[in-house]
Amino acid sequence: MPAASPTLFFFAASAASLMLAFLSGDDPVGPVVRTKQGLVRGAFDTSYGGRKFLGFQNLPYAKPPVGQLRFRSPQAPDPWVDIRDATAQGPVCPQNNKLGPKESEDCLYLNVFTPELKPEKLFPVMFWIHGGGWVSGTGAGYKAGYLIDKNVVLVTINYRLGPLGFLSTDDENCPGNFGLKDQVAALKWVKENIEAFGGDPDDVTLFGNSVGAASAHYHMLSTASKGLFNKAISESGVALATWARPEPGLDNARKIAVLVGCPSEPSAALVKCLRGVDEPILTAAALNLTKWFFCPMAQLRPVVEKKSEDSFLSDDPLNLKPHSSIPWLVGVNSEEGAVFTGAFVEYNTMLQDLDRNSDKLFPICFAYQTSPRAKLITERIRNFYFSSNPLTVNGSTNMISDGLFTWKTDESIRRYNDTQATYYYLFSYRGKYSMSDIYAIGDVNIGVAHGDEAFYLFSNNPYMPITGELPAKDIEMAKKLTKLWTDFAKTGNPTPDNDPLHWPQVTFGRELQYLRIGEKLEVKKGLFQKRIDFWKSLRF
Ligand SMILES: *[C@@H]1O[C@H](CO)[C@@H](O)[C@H](O)[C@H]1NC(C)=O
Ligand SMILES: *[C@@H]1O[C@H](CO)[C@@H](O)[C@H](O)[C@H]1NC(C)=O
Ligand SMILES: *[C@@H]1O[C@H](CO)[C@@H](O)[C@H](O)[C@H]1NC(C)=O
Repeated sequence: MPAASPTLFFFAASAASLMLAFLSGDDPVGPVVRTKQGLVRGAFDTSYGGRKFLGFQNLPYAKPPVGQLRFRSPQAPDPWVDIRDATAQGPVCPQNNKLGPKESEDCLYLNVFTPELKPEKLFPVMFWIHGGGWVSGTGAGYKAGYLIDKNVVLVTINYRLGPLGFLSTDDENCPGNFGLKDQVAALKWVKENIEAFGGDPDDVTLFGNSVGAASAHYHMLSTASKGLFNKAISESGVALATWARPEPGLDNARKIAVLVGCPSEPSAALVKCLRGVDEPILTAAALNLTKWFFCPMAQLRPVVEKKSEDSFLSDDPLNLKPHSSIPWLVGVNSEEGAVFTGAFVEYNTMLQDLDRNSDKLFPICFAYQTSPRAKLITERIRNFYFSSNPLTVNGSTNMISDGLFTWKTDESIRRYNDTQATYYYLFSYRGKYSMSDIYAIGDVNIGVAHGDEAFYLFSNNPYMPITGELPAKDIEMAKKLTKLWTDFAKTGNPTPDNDPLHWPQVTFGRELQYLRIGEKLEVKKGLFQKRIDFWKSLRF
Protein backbone atom coordinates (compact mmCIF):
# COMPACT_ATOMS: atom_id res chain seq x y z
CA MET A 1 0.00 0.00 0.00
CA PRO A 2 1.35 3.45 -0.79
CA ALA A 3 1.81 5.22 2.56
CA ALA A 4 0.68 8.57 1.28
CA SER A 5 -0.70 9.51 -2.06
CA PRO A 6 2.37 10.05 -4.22
CA THR A 7 3.07 13.65 -4.96
CA LEU A 8 4.88 14.96 -7.94
CA PHE A 9 6.93 18.11 -7.97
CA PHE A 10 8.07 19.89 -11.05
CA PHE A 11 10.76 22.11 -9.69
CA ALA A 12 11.37 25.34 -11.43
CA ALA A 13 15.04 24.88 -12.10
CA SER A 14 17.10 27.74 -10.88
CA ALA A 15 19.01 29.71 -13.46
CA ALA A 16 22.26 28.40 -12.02
CA SER A 17 21.35 24.73 -12.29
CA LEU A 18 19.97 25.22 -15.80
CA MET A 19 23.21 26.90 -16.74
CA LEU A 20 25.16 23.95 -15.33
CA ALA A 21 23.00 21.50 -17.23
CA PHE A 22 23.65 23.33 -20.47
CA LEU A 23 27.36 23.55 -19.81
CA SER A 24 27.65 19.80 -19.19
CA GLY A 25 25.58 19.06 -22.31
CA ASP A 26 22.88 17.28 -20.29
CA ASP A 27 19.15 17.59 -20.66
CA PRO A 28 17.70 20.26 -18.43
CA VAL A 29 17.01 19.00 -14.93
CA GLY A 30 14.44 16.20 -14.81
CA PRO A 31 11.37 16.12 -12.59
CA VAL A 32 11.27 15.01 -8.99
CA VAL A 33 9.10 12.16 -7.72
CA ARG A 34 8.22 11.33 -4.15
CA THR A 35 8.88 7.71 -3.18
CA LYS A 36 8.11 6.22 0.21
CA GLN A 37 11.73 6.79 1.20
CA GLY A 38 12.16 10.30 -0.16
CA LEU A 39 12.39 12.50 -3.23
CA VAL A 40 14.26 11.41 -6.34
CA ARG A 41 15.23 13.39 -9.40
CA GLY A 42 15.28 11.62 -12.75
CA ALA A 43 16.57 12.45 -16.20
CA PHE A 44 15.07 12.66 -19.68
CA ASP A 45 15.99 10.20 -22.39
CA THR A 46 14.74 9.54 -25.92
CA SER A 47 13.21 6.27 -27.08
CA TYR A 48 14.01 4.50 -30.32
CA GLY A 49 10.83 5.93 -31.80
CA GLY A 50 11.89 9.43 -30.81
CA ARG A 51 9.71 9.77 -27.75
CA LYS A 52 10.92 11.68 -24.72
CA PHE A 53 10.76 9.57 -21.57
CA LEU A 54 12.04 9.56 -18.01
CA GLY A 55 14.60 7.40 -16.28
CA PHE A 56 15.15 7.13 -12.53
CA GLN A 57 18.24 5.07 -11.81
CA ASN A 58 20.02 3.76 -8.78
CA LEU A 59 17.00 3.80 -6.42
CA PRO A 60 17.63 1.87 -3.19
CA TYR A 61 15.06 -0.84 -2.49
CA ALA A 62 16.82 -2.29 0.57
CA LYS A 63 19.44 -1.31 3.13
CA PRO A 64 23.00 -1.88 1.90
CA PRO A 65 23.55 -5.61 2.60
CA VAL A 66 26.99 -5.04 4.10
CA GLY A 67 28.73 -5.70 7.40
CA GLN A 68 26.36 -7.50 9.75
CA LEU A 69 23.72 -7.58 6.99
CA ARG A 70 25.89 -9.75 4.73
CA PHE A 71 24.20 -13.19 4.36
CA ARG A 72 20.94 -11.82 5.74
CA SER A 73 17.56 -11.15 4.19
CA PRO A 74 17.18 -7.70 2.66
CA GLN A 75 15.98 -5.05 5.12
CA ALA A 76 13.65 -2.15 4.35
CA PRO A 77 15.56 0.81 2.88
CA ASP A 78 16.31 3.90 4.97
CA PRO A 79 14.56 7.16 4.15
CA TRP A 80 16.47 10.27 3.13
CA VAL A 81 15.85 13.99 3.47
CA ASP A 82 17.29 15.76 0.43
CA ILE A 83 16.48 15.08 -3.19
CA ARG A 84 18.30 11.94 -4.27
CA ASP A 85 20.02 12.16 -7.63
CA ALA A 86 18.62 9.36 -9.81
CA THR A 87 20.12 10.51 -13.09
CA ALA A 88 23.10 8.14 -13.29
CA GLN A 89 23.65 4.41 -13.38
CA GLY A 90 24.46 2.84 -10.01
CA PRO A 91 26.99 0.17 -9.10
CA VAL A 92 26.76 -3.46 -10.20
CA CYS A 93 26.80 -6.26 -7.64
CA PRO A 94 30.20 -7.93 -7.09
CA GLN A 95 30.98 -10.54 -9.73
CA ASN A 96 33.88 -12.07 -11.58
CA ASN A 97 32.60 -10.78 -14.94
CA LYS A 98 33.55 -7.15 -15.20
CA LEU A 99 30.35 -5.56 -16.47
CA GLY A 100 30.19 -2.13 -14.94
CA PRO A 101 32.47 0.75 -14.17
CA LYS A 102 31.56 0.57 -10.48
CA GLU A 103 31.18 -2.61 -8.47
CA SER A 104 30.02 -2.54 -4.86
CA GLU A 105 28.62 -4.86 -2.25
CA ASP A 106 26.20 -1.99 -1.61
CA CYS A 107 24.28 -2.77 -4.80
CA LEU A 108 20.58 -3.28 -4.03
CA TYR A 109 19.28 -0.66 -6.44
CA LEU A 110 16.69 -0.62 -9.17
CA ASN A 111 15.89 1.56 -12.16
CA VAL A 112 12.52 2.83 -13.38
CA PHE A 113 11.80 4.02 -16.93
CA THR A 114 8.44 5.56 -17.71
CA PRO A 115 6.74 7.23 -20.67
CA GLU A 116 5.10 9.75 -18.34
CA LEU A 117 4.51 10.27 -14.65
CA LYS A 118 0.82 11.12 -14.69
CA PRO A 119 -0.90 9.16 -17.44
CA GLU A 120 -4.66 9.11 -17.71
CA LYS A 121 -4.53 5.36 -17.11
CA LEU A 122 -1.61 3.83 -15.22
CA PHE A 123 0.84 1.85 -17.38
CA PRO A 124 1.39 -1.89 -16.94
CA VAL A 125 4.75 -2.57 -15.30
CA MET A 126 7.39 -4.92 -16.73
CA PHE A 127 9.91 -6.08 -14.14
CA TRP A 128 13.15 -7.42 -15.66
CA ILE A 129 15.25 -10.03 -13.83
CA HIS A 130 18.63 -10.32 -15.51
CA GLY A 131 20.45 -13.58 -16.24
CA GLY A 132 24.07 -14.49 -15.62
CA GLY A 133 24.11 -17.82 -13.76
CA TRP A 134 23.34 -16.16 -10.40
CA VAL A 135 26.99 -15.08 -10.40
CA SER A 136 27.02 -12.23 -12.90
CA GLY A 137 24.90 -9.60 -14.63
CA THR A 138 23.25 -6.33 -13.73
CA GLY A 139 19.92 -4.61 -14.20
CA ALA A 140 21.63 -1.43 -15.26
CA GLY A 141 22.72 -1.52 -18.86
CA TYR A 142 19.45 -2.91 -20.24
CA LYS A 143 17.96 0.10 -21.96
CA ALA A 144 14.26 0.92 -22.30
CA GLY A 145 14.52 2.47 -25.79
CA TYR A 146 12.19 -0.07 -27.47
CA LEU A 147 9.81 -0.98 -24.66
CA ILE A 148 8.94 2.59 -23.77
CA ASP A 149 7.43 3.08 -27.24
CA LYS A 150 4.85 0.45 -26.29
CA ASN A 151 3.51 2.35 -23.27
CA VAL A 152 4.77 0.30 -20.37
CA VAL A 153 6.83 1.17 -17.31
CA LEU A 154 10.10 -0.81 -17.20
CA VAL A 155 11.80 -1.72 -13.93
CA THR A 156 15.28 -3.31 -13.97
CA ILE A 157 16.96 -4.53 -10.80
CA ASN A 158 20.19 -5.70 -9.29
CA TYR A 159 20.15 -8.58 -6.84
CA ARG A 160 22.98 -10.19 -4.87
CA LEU A 161 25.09 -12.67 -6.85
CA GLY A 162 27.56 -15.44 -6.16
CA PRO A 163 28.38 -16.24 -2.52
CA LEU A 164 26.85 -12.95 -1.33
CA GLY A 165 23.53 -13.88 -2.92
CA PHE A 166 23.43 -17.66 -2.73
CA LEU A 167 25.76 -19.05 -0.06
CA SER A 168 23.89 -21.23 2.40
CA THR A 169 24.74 -23.41 5.37
CA ASP A 170 21.26 -24.96 5.19
CA ASP A 171 20.40 -23.62 8.64
CA GLU A 172 19.45 -20.37 10.36
CA ASN A 173 23.07 -19.13 10.37
CA CYS A 174 22.93 -18.59 6.64
CA PRO A 175 19.59 -19.72 5.21
CA GLY A 176 20.48 -18.70 1.62
CA ASN A 177 18.32 -17.56 -1.34
CA PHE A 178 19.32 -13.94 -0.62
CA GLY A 179 19.42 -13.07 -4.32
CA LEU A 180 15.84 -14.30 -4.72
CA LYS A 181 14.72 -12.55 -1.53
CA ASP A 182 16.24 -9.35 -2.94
CA GLN A 183 14.01 -9.78 -5.98
CA VAL A 184 11.00 -10.09 -3.69
CA ALA A 185 12.07 -6.93 -1.84
CA ALA A 186 12.33 -5.11 -5.18
CA LEU A 187 8.83 -6.33 -6.10
CA LYS A 188 7.53 -4.98 -2.79
CA TRP A 189 9.18 -1.65 -3.56
CA VAL A 190 7.36 -1.64 -6.90
CA LYS A 191 4.05 -2.38 -5.21
CA GLU A 192 4.54 0.56 -2.84
CA ASN A 193 6.10 3.10 -5.16
CA ILE A 194 5.45 2.50 -8.82
CA GLU A 195 2.23 4.52 -8.99
CA ALA A 196 4.27 7.67 -8.41
CA PHE A 197 6.05 6.85 -11.70
CA GLY A 198 2.85 6.23 -13.67
CA GLY A 199 2.93 2.43 -13.22
CA ASP A 200 0.06 0.22 -12.08
CA PRO A 201 1.08 -1.56 -8.84
CA ASP A 202 -1.56 -4.23 -9.50
CA ASP A 203 -0.42 -5.05 -13.02
CA VAL A 204 3.15 -6.30 -12.87
CA THR A 205 4.68 -8.75 -15.36
CA LEU A 206 7.92 -10.48 -14.41
CA PHE A 207 10.26 -11.20 -17.27
CA GLY A 208 13.80 -12.48 -17.33
CA ASN A 209 16.19 -14.70 -19.21
CA SER A 210 18.34 -17.63 -18.14
CA VAL A 211 18.49 -17.62 -14.33
CA GLY A 212 16.22 -14.55 -14.51
CA ALA A 213 13.68 -16.75 -16.30
CA ALA A 214 14.14 -19.49 -13.72
CA SER A 215 13.73 -16.82 -11.01
CA ALA A 216 10.41 -15.72 -12.55
CA HIS A 217 9.33 -19.37 -12.41
CA TYR A 218 10.44 -19.56 -8.76
CA HIS A 219 8.31 -16.51 -7.97
CA MET A 220 5.31 -18.33 -9.47
CA LEU A 221 5.95 -21.10 -6.96
CA SER A 222 7.02 -19.19 -3.85
CA THR A 223 4.25 -17.88 -1.63
CA ALA A 224 6.69 -15.13 -0.58
CA SER A 225 6.05 -13.54 -3.99
CA LYS A 226 2.29 -14.04 -4.04
CA GLY A 227 0.28 -10.92 -4.82
CA LEU A 228 3.29 -8.99 -6.08
CA PHE A 229 2.83 -9.77 -9.81
CA ASN A 230 0.17 -11.20 -12.07
CA LYS A 231 2.00 -12.44 -15.21
CA ALA A 232 5.36 -14.00 -15.94
CA ILE A 233 7.68 -14.46 -18.91
CA SER A 234 10.48 -17.03 -18.76
CA GLU A 235 12.99 -16.69 -21.59
CA SER A 236 15.24 -19.75 -21.75
CA GLY A 237 15.14 -20.88 -18.16
CA VAL A 238 12.86 -22.68 -15.73
CA ALA A 239 13.12 -23.61 -12.06
CA LEU A 240 13.19 -27.29 -13.05
CA ALA A 241 16.33 -26.89 -15.18
CA THR A 242 19.14 -29.08 -13.89
CA TRP A 243 21.16 -25.93 -13.11
CA ALA A 244 18.29 -24.11 -11.37
CA ARG A 245 16.81 -26.79 -9.11
CA PRO A 246 17.74 -26.32 -5.46
CA GLU A 247 20.61 -28.26 -3.97
CA PRO A 248 21.91 -28.31 -0.38
CA GLY A 249 24.33 -25.42 0.17
CA LEU A 250 26.56 -26.59 2.99
CA ASP A 251 29.15 -28.43 0.87
CA ASN A 252 29.80 -25.36 -1.26
CA ALA A 253 29.79 -23.08 1.79
CA ARG A 254 32.49 -25.27 3.34
CA LYS A 255 34.55 -25.31 0.16
CA ILE A 256 34.44 -21.54 0.02
CA ALA A 257 35.26 -21.23 3.72
CA VAL A 258 38.35 -23.42 3.32
CA LEU A 259 39.46 -21.47 0.24
CA VAL A 260 39.40 -18.16 2.07
CA GLY A 261 40.84 -19.47 5.35
CA CYS A 262 37.68 -19.70 7.46
CA PRO A 263 36.63 -22.62 9.67
CA SER A 264 34.39 -25.06 7.79
CA GLU A 265 32.38 -25.88 10.92
CA PRO A 266 30.38 -25.30 13.00
CA SER A 267 28.24 -23.25 10.65
CA ALA A 268 27.89 -20.32 13.07
CA ALA A 269 31.68 -19.91 13.12
CA LEU A 270 31.89 -20.40 9.37
CA VAL A 271 29.37 -17.62 8.71
CA LYS A 272 30.82 -15.28 11.32
CA CYS A 273 34.25 -15.62 9.72
CA LEU A 274 32.91 -15.21 6.15
CA ARG A 275 31.20 -11.95 7.22
CA GLY A 276 34.66 -10.58 7.89
CA VAL A 277 36.26 -11.62 4.59
CA ASP A 278 36.96 -8.91 2.02
CA GLU A 279 34.30 -9.01 -0.68
CA PRO A 280 36.65 -9.49 -3.69
CA ILE A 281 38.22 -12.56 -2.07
CA LEU A 282 34.82 -14.07 -1.36
CA THR A 283 33.56 -13.35 -4.86
CA ALA A 284 36.67 -14.81 -6.50
CA ALA A 285 36.38 -17.98 -4.44
CA ALA A 286 33.19 -18.93 -6.32
CA LEU A 287 35.29 -19.37 -9.46
CA ASN A 288 36.74 -22.44 -7.81
CA LEU A 289 33.36 -24.16 -7.86
CA THR A 290 33.47 -24.32 -11.66
CA LYS A 291 34.84 -27.65 -12.82
CA TRP A 292 35.10 -27.00 -16.54
CA PHE A 293 34.21 -23.96 -18.70
CA PHE A 294 30.42 -23.73 -18.25
CA CYS A 295 30.05 -26.74 -15.96
CA PRO A 296 28.19 -26.66 -13.67
CA MET A 297 26.27 -23.79 -15.24
CA ALA A 298 25.36 -22.22 -11.88
CA GLN A 299 28.12 -22.33 -9.27
CA LEU A 300 25.71 -21.67 -6.40
CA ARG A 301 22.00 -22.36 -6.48
CA PRO A 302 18.78 -21.79 -4.56
CA VAL A 303 18.24 -23.97 -1.50
CA VAL A 304 15.19 -25.46 0.17
CA GLU A 305 14.71 -23.68 3.51
CA LYS A 306 12.91 -24.55 6.69
CA LYS A 307 9.54 -22.82 6.55
CA SER A 308 9.60 -19.47 8.36
CA GLU A 309 8.37 -15.88 8.02
CA ASP A 310 11.51 -15.23 6.11
CA SER A 311 11.89 -18.29 3.91
CA PHE A 312 11.57 -18.11 0.13
CA LEU A 313 11.50 -21.76 -0.87
CA SER A 314 10.09 -24.48 1.34
CA ASP A 315 10.24 -27.39 -1.10
CA ASP A 316 11.73 -28.58 -4.35
CA PRO A 317 9.93 -26.99 -7.33
CA LEU A 318 9.16 -30.54 -8.45
CA ASN A 319 6.71 -30.73 -5.54
CA LEU A 320 5.22 -27.26 -5.92
CA LYS A 321 2.41 -25.87 -8.02
CA PRO A 322 2.00 -22.18 -8.89
CA HIS A 323 0.42 -20.28 -5.99
CA SER A 324 -1.92 -18.47 -8.38
CA SER A 325 -3.17 -19.05 -11.88
CA ILE A 326 -0.83 -16.67 -13.68
CA PRO A 327 -0.53 -16.40 -17.48
CA TRP A 328 2.93 -17.66 -18.41
CA LEU A 329 4.83 -16.93 -21.60
CA VAL A 330 7.80 -19.26 -21.88
CA GLY A 331 10.20 -20.46 -24.55
CA VAL A 332 13.67 -21.12 -25.81
CA ASN A 333 16.02 -20.00 -28.57
CA SER A 334 16.78 -22.29 -31.49
CA GLU A 335 20.48 -22.85 -30.72
CA GLU A 336 20.73 -22.09 -26.98
CA GLY A 337 24.00 -24.00 -26.64
CA ALA A 338 25.76 -21.69 -29.11
CA VAL A 339 26.41 -19.29 -26.22
CA PHE A 340 29.06 -21.80 -25.12
CA THR A 341 29.98 -23.58 -28.36
CA GLY A 342 30.96 -20.25 -29.93
CA ALA A 343 34.12 -20.82 -27.93
CA PHE A 344 34.68 -24.19 -29.62
CA VAL A 345 34.77 -22.52 -33.03
CA GLU A 346 37.62 -20.38 -31.82
CA TYR A 347 39.37 -22.87 -29.57
CA ASN A 348 39.15 -26.33 -31.08
CA THR A 349 41.16 -27.77 -28.19
CA MET A 350 38.22 -27.14 -25.87
CA LEU A 351 35.98 -29.30 -28.02
CA GLN A 352 38.67 -31.98 -28.12
CA ASP A 353 38.94 -31.77 -24.35
CA LEU A 354 35.19 -32.29 -23.96
CA ASP A 355 35.36 -35.15 -26.46
CA ARG A 356 38.21 -36.97 -24.74
CA ASN A 357 36.87 -36.44 -21.24
CA SER A 358 33.16 -36.88 -21.88
CA ASP A 359 32.90 -39.63 -19.25
CA LYS A 360 34.07 -37.19 -16.62
CA LEU A 361 32.61 -33.92 -17.97
CA PHE A 362 29.13 -34.75 -19.31
CA PRO A 363 27.86 -35.88 -15.88
CA ILE A 364 29.03 -32.56 -14.39
CA CYS A 365 27.71 -30.39 -17.25
CA PHE A 366 24.31 -32.08 -17.35
CA ALA A 367 24.06 -32.86 -13.62
CA TYR A 368 23.85 -36.65 -13.46
CA GLN A 369 27.12 -37.24 -11.60
CA THR A 370 25.27 -38.96 -8.78
CA SER A 371 23.55 -41.46 -11.08
CA PRO A 372 24.87 -45.02 -10.84
CA ARG A 373 24.20 -45.23 -14.60
CA ALA A 374 26.33 -42.18 -15.41
CA LYS A 375 28.64 -44.04 -17.79
CA LEU A 376 25.74 -45.51 -19.73
CA ILE A 377 23.97 -42.13 -19.91
CA THR A 378 27.09 -40.50 -21.34
CA GLU A 379 27.30 -43.24 -23.95
CA ARG A 380 23.68 -42.77 -24.93
CA ILE A 381 24.06 -39.01 -25.24
CA ARG A 382 27.16 -39.40 -27.41
CA ASN A 383 25.36 -41.90 -29.56
CA PHE A 384 22.27 -39.76 -30.00
CA TYR A 385 24.11 -36.60 -31.11
CA PHE A 386 27.32 -37.94 -32.67
CA SER A 387 26.85 -41.68 -33.40
CA SER A 388 30.33 -43.09 -32.91
CA ASN A 389 32.05 -39.97 -34.29
CA PRO A 390 34.04 -37.30 -32.48
CA LEU A 391 32.10 -34.33 -31.07
CA THR A 392 31.21 -31.52 -33.50
CA VAL A 393 30.38 -27.88 -32.81
CA ASN A 394 26.79 -28.07 -34.09
CA GLY A 395 26.10 -31.42 -32.44
CA SER A 396 27.39 -30.00 -29.16
CA THR A 397 25.20 -26.94 -29.60
CA ASN A 398 22.09 -29.13 -29.83
CA MET A 399 23.21 -31.38 -27.02
CA ILE A 400 23.75 -28.40 -24.69
CA SER A 401 20.50 -26.75 -25.84
CA ASP A 402 18.51 -29.82 -24.92
CA GLY A 403 20.36 -30.93 -21.78
CA LEU A 404 20.30 -27.46 -20.23
CA PHE A 405 17.25 -25.74 -21.71
CA THR A 406 14.67 -27.26 -24.07
CA TRP A 407 14.03 -30.50 -22.18
CA LYS A 408 13.07 -29.00 -18.84
CA THR A 409 11.11 -26.16 -20.45
CA ASP A 410 8.87 -28.73 -22.12
CA GLU A 411 8.58 -30.64 -18.84
CA SER A 412 7.71 -27.51 -16.84
CA ILE A 413 4.97 -26.49 -19.27
CA ARG A 414 3.40 -29.96 -19.13
CA ARG A 415 3.54 -30.01 -15.34
CA TYR A 416 0.98 -27.20 -15.05
CA ASN A 417 -1.44 -28.52 -17.64
CA ASP A 418 -4.35 -27.86 -15.29
CA THR A 419 -3.49 -24.45 -13.86
CA GLN A 420 -1.74 -22.09 -16.24
CA ALA A 421 -2.59 -20.24 -19.42
CA THR A 422 0.72 -20.91 -21.14
CA TYR A 423 2.13 -19.45 -24.34
CA TYR A 424 5.14 -21.31 -25.74
CA TYR A 425 7.66 -19.92 -28.24
CA LEU A 426 10.80 -20.71 -30.18
CA PHE A 427 12.92 -17.66 -30.94
CA SER A 428 14.95 -18.28 -34.09
CA TYR A 429 15.89 -14.90 -35.53
CA ARG A 430 19.58 -14.27 -36.04
CA GLY A 431 20.56 -10.62 -36.31
CA LYS A 432 23.71 -8.53 -36.02
CA TYR A 433 24.37 -9.31 -32.38
CA SER A 434 24.52 -12.78 -30.88
CA MET A 435 25.67 -14.19 -27.58
CA SER A 436 27.44 -16.90 -29.59
CA ASP A 437 30.18 -14.29 -30.00
CA ILE A 438 30.65 -13.75 -26.30
CA TYR A 439 33.32 -16.40 -25.80
CA ALA A 440 34.56 -16.17 -29.38
CA ILE A 441 36.87 -13.50 -30.66
CA GLY A 442 35.36 -12.91 -34.07
CA ASP A 443 31.88 -13.22 -35.49
CA VAL A 444 30.67 -16.80 -35.50
CA ASN A 445 27.29 -17.68 -36.91
CA ILE A 446 26.26 -20.99 -35.46
CA GLY A 447 22.67 -20.07 -34.77
CA VAL A 448 20.50 -18.18 -32.30
CA ALA A 449 22.14 -18.49 -28.93
CA HIS A 450 21.04 -18.35 -25.31
CA GLY A 451 20.25 -14.73 -24.51
CA ASP A 452 19.86 -13.55 -28.12
CA GLU A 453 16.21 -12.55 -27.75
CA ALA A 454 17.20 -9.80 -25.29
CA PHE A 455 18.82 -7.85 -28.17
CA TYR A 456 15.28 -7.22 -29.47
CA LEU A 457 13.71 -6.32 -26.13
CA PHE A 458 16.29 -3.78 -25.00
CA SER A 459 18.08 -1.08 -26.93
CA ASN A 460 21.26 -1.95 -25.05
CA ASN A 461 22.68 -5.08 -23.43
CA PRO A 462 25.29 -5.01 -20.66
CA TYR A 463 27.00 -8.15 -21.96
CA MET A 464 27.44 -6.74 -25.45
CA PRO A 465 26.95 -3.00 -25.76
CA ILE A 466 25.05 -2.05 -28.91
CA THR A 467 26.90 0.50 -30.94
CA GLY A 468 26.31 2.05 -34.35
CA GLU A 469 23.46 1.48 -36.75
CA LEU A 470 21.34 -1.64 -36.54
CA PRO A 471 20.14 -3.43 -39.69
CA ALA A 472 16.52 -2.53 -40.53
CA LYS A 473 15.54 -6.18 -40.12
CA ASP A 474 16.78 -6.17 -36.54
CA ILE A 475 14.67 -3.10 -35.81
CA GLU A 476 11.67 -4.86 -37.35
CA MET A 477 12.28 -7.84 -35.05
CA ALA A 478 12.54 -5.54 -32.02
CA LYS A 479 9.16 -4.06 -32.95
CA LYS A 480 7.57 -7.49 -33.37
CA LEU A 481 9.01 -8.97 -30.19
CA THR A 482 8.25 -5.98 -27.97
CA LYS A 483 4.69 -5.94 -29.35
CA LEU A 484 4.12 -9.60 -28.37
CA TRP A 485 5.74 -9.14 -24.97
CA THR A 486 3.95 -5.89 -24.11
CA ASP A 487 0.57 -7.10 -25.39
CA PHE A 488 1.04 -10.03 -23.03
CA ALA A 489 1.94 -7.61 -20.21
CA LYS A 490 -1.15 -5.53 -20.99
CA THR A 491 -3.73 -8.29 -21.49
CA GLY A 492 -2.27 -11.66 -20.47
CA ASN A 493 -2.46 -12.67 -24.14
CA PRO A 494 0.44 -11.98 -26.56
CA THR A 495 -1.95 -11.71 -29.52
CA PRO A 496 -5.14 -10.07 -28.26
CA ASP A 497 -8.34 -10.17 -30.30
CA ASN A 498 -7.59 -7.41 -32.79
CA ASP A 499 -4.26 -8.97 -33.78
CA PRO A 500 -4.24 -10.69 -37.20
CA LEU A 501 -1.80 -13.27 -35.81
CA HIS A 502 -3.22 -15.86 -33.43
CA TRP A 503 -0.72 -17.40 -31.01
CA PRO A 504 -2.78 -20.07 -29.27
CA GLN A 505 -2.44 -21.01 -25.66
CA VAL A 506 -0.80 -24.43 -25.23
CA THR A 507 -3.27 -27.31 -25.26
CA PHE A 508 -1.93 -30.58 -23.99
CA GLY A 509 -1.25 -33.58 -26.12
CA ARG A 510 1.88 -35.40 -27.23
CA GLU A 511 2.98 -32.32 -29.17
CA LEU A 512 2.64 -28.80 -27.80
CA GLN A 513 1.84 -25.82 -30.05
CA TYR A 514 4.29 -22.96 -30.10
CA LEU A 515 4.99 -19.75 -31.97
CA ARG A 516 8.14 -19.78 -34.05
CA ILE A 517 9.50 -16.24 -33.92
CA GLY A 518 11.86 -15.94 -36.86
CA GLU A 519 11.83 -13.85 -40.02
CA LYS A 520 8.20 -14.99 -40.11
CA LEU A 521 5.88 -15.69 -37.20
CA GLU A 522 4.36 -19.15 -37.52
CA VAL A 523 2.34 -21.36 -35.20
CA LYS A 524 3.82 -24.86 -35.14
CA LYS A 525 3.63 -28.07 -33.14
CA GLY A 526 6.06 -30.45 -31.48
CA LEU A 527 9.17 -28.40 -30.73
CA PHE A 528 12.34 -30.57 -30.75
CA GLN A 529 10.06 -33.41 -29.66
CA LYS A 530 12.37 -36.30 -30.59
CA ARG A 531 15.32 -34.67 -28.85
CA ILE A 532 13.26 -33.90 -25.76
CA ASP A 533 11.82 -37.41 -25.64
CA PHE A 534 15.38 -38.71 -25.77
CA TRP A 535 16.38 -36.76 -22.64
CA LYS A 536 13.21 -37.86 -20.87
CA SER A 537 14.12 -41.46 -21.66
CA LEU A 538 17.44 -41.11 -19.79
CA ARG A 539 15.55 -40.92 -16.49
CA PHE A 540 17.99 -39.22 -14.18
C1 LIG B 1 40.68 -20.31 -6.81
O1 LIG B 1 41.34 -20.88 -7.92
C2 LIG B 1 42.25 -20.06 -8.59
C3 LIG B 1 42.85 -20.85 -9.71
O2 LIG B 1 41.92 -21.63 -10.37
C4 LIG B 1 43.31 -19.52 -7.67
O3 LIG B 1 44.12 -18.60 -8.36
C5 LIG B 1 42.66 -18.86 -6.49
O4 LIG B 1 43.64 -18.44 -5.60
C6 LIG B 1 41.74 -19.85 -5.81
N1 LIG B 1 41.23 -19.35 -4.57
C7 LIG B 1 40.42 -18.32 -4.37
C8 LIG B 1 40.14 -17.98 -2.96
O5 LIG B 1 39.92 -17.69 -5.24
C1 LIG C 1 26.25 -25.43 -38.17
O1 LIG C 1 25.08 -24.65 -37.94
C2 LIG C 1 25.07 -23.41 -38.60
C3 LIG C 1 23.89 -22.57 -38.11
O2 LIG C 1 22.74 -23.33 -37.95
C4 LIG C 1 25.08 -23.64 -40.11
O3 LIG C 1 25.09 -22.41 -40.78
C5 LIG C 1 26.32 -24.44 -40.46
O4 LIG C 1 26.30 -24.77 -41.84
C6 LIG C 1 26.41 -25.74 -39.65
N1 LIG C 1 27.70 -26.38 -39.87
C7 LIG C 1 27.83 -27.65 -40.17
C8 LIG C 1 29.22 -28.15 -40.35
O5 LIG C 1 26.89 -28.39 -40.32
C1 LIG D 1 -1.95 -33.35 -17.11
O1 LIG D 1 -0.81 -34.09 -16.72
C2 LIG D 1 -1.12 -35.20 -15.88
C3 LIG D 1 0.19 -35.79 -15.40
O2 LIG D 1 1.04 -36.07 -16.45
C4 LIG D 1 -2.00 -36.17 -16.65
O3 LIG D 1 -2.34 -37.26 -15.83
C5 LIG D 1 -3.26 -35.46 -17.12
O4 LIG D 1 -4.01 -36.32 -17.94
C6 LIG D 1 -2.92 -34.21 -17.90
N1 LIG D 1 -4.10 -33.45 -18.19
C7 LIG D 1 -4.35 -32.95 -19.39
C8 LIG D 1 -5.57 -32.08 -19.50
O5 LIG D 1 -3.66 -33.18 -20.36
